[in-house]
Amino acid sequence: MVTVNRNYLKLPGSYLFSTIAKKVKAYKEANPQAKVISLGIGDVTQPLVPAVIEALHKAVEEMGHAETFHGYAPDLGYEFLRTAIAKNDYQHRGCHIEADEIFVSDGAKSDSGNIQEIFGLDNKVAVCDPVYPVYVDTNVMAGRTGDYSQERGNFDGVIYMPCKEENGFVPELPKEVPDLIYLCFPNNPTGGAITKDQLQEWVDYANKNGSVIIYDAAYEAYITQDNVPHSIYECEGARTCAIELRSFSKNAGFTGVRLGFTVVPKELVRDNVSLHSLWARRHGTKFNGAPYIVQRAGEAVYSDEGKAQLKEQVGYYQRNAKAILDGLSQAGFTVSGGVNAPYIWLKTPDKMASWDFFDYLLEKANVVGTPGSGFGAHGEGFFRLTAFGTYENTLEAIERIKNL
Ligand code: MLT
Repeated sequence: MVTVNRNYLKLPGSYLFSTIAKKVKAYKEANPQAKVISLGIGDVTQPLVPAVIEALHKAVEEMGHAETFHGYAPDLGYEFLRTAIAKNDYQHRGCHIEADEIFVSDGAKSDSGNIQEIFGLDNKVAVCDPVYPVYVDTNVMAGRTGDYSQERGNFDGVIYMPCKEENGFVPELPKEVPDLIYLCFPNNPTGGAITKDQLQEWVDYANKNGSVIIYDAAYEAYITQDNVPHSIYECEGARTCAIELRSFSKNAGFTGVRLGFTVVPKELVRDNVSLHSLWARRHGTKFNGAPYIVQRAGEAVYSDEGKAQLKEQVGYYQRNAKAILDGLSQAGFTVSGGVNAPYIWLKTPDKMASWDFFDYLLEKANVVGTPGSGFGAHGEGFFRLTAFGTYENTLEAIERIKNL
């Protein structure tokens, strides 16, 4: 008899952004005249920059000729891209990371969901609360958690680390020592940042206790403050305790192109096994490489033209973030984030529940955001807006919210 992976049945409802998409679709069908503005899912709106488009065209042309055609990509990524990443994202920042410690993939969402596979099921997982749902859901699917508690709004067997106004949305070191620690900074969803000194404390804690930090740095391009690290490898000792996840989605607008990478340093050993070799084994077996044309597009991100054009593009979204922060604080909302991240975290007015505020905003202002409680129990009473809309829509959405 066929049985199913019953761990999936522990997951309540559907994936957060699927639920939102369904709700918005239903609203639009019932109100076809409504001009709905989405500041919900963190999806970009600006076109790919010319340097990337040029690289894509060139690579497509190469694929049409026998002499320059490319079949399967190397499963760990093309050398040209891994070298560009190692040089630009790490060595230029003073981080010791080699090209062969970089594993190119089809995006950070897959990597952040898949990375848990190389760890035993008995590992204890710690996550921030609120948290990007993928880290928790994939550990649930694997069977690394207990059941969902409706009352608490979270899973048994997971260490939740509250990120609240009181701690500046940076978690405290947990008393119960976790094996795997997921950290995302600049943070999704709160938009909060961690300083280098604070991150160093986590690195020291992980090294002392033998934990592994899975560090999601997908939003590093949005950092504006000097004391905020772009990579965990800026901290001393991170090579022996941290894996880093990176994405091309938010710094280069690749949400529809798909490209990301994971860094696993060779010194990272647990249970007498090199995690680098385990991840290489997993990648080799289950992944056939990101497409050649996409990797060439990724390489263009590091060209002089690409860098200049993307600085401007990131600046465009940063201007949106500032407009949301300023506009909503003038309107009397309590807002945070937005300075080192493309997300603005606002407190719902009059302690309204997050999903009630979602409905209220959709119906009264035709603006879509993301309810904080969708990211965890400590997100209740909060709401996330993204800076990835167009500038015009962002200003319009702020005006509508101000006029409520
Ligand atoms: C978000 O809105 O949280 C992000 O777009 C999700 C993602 O990058 O997968």
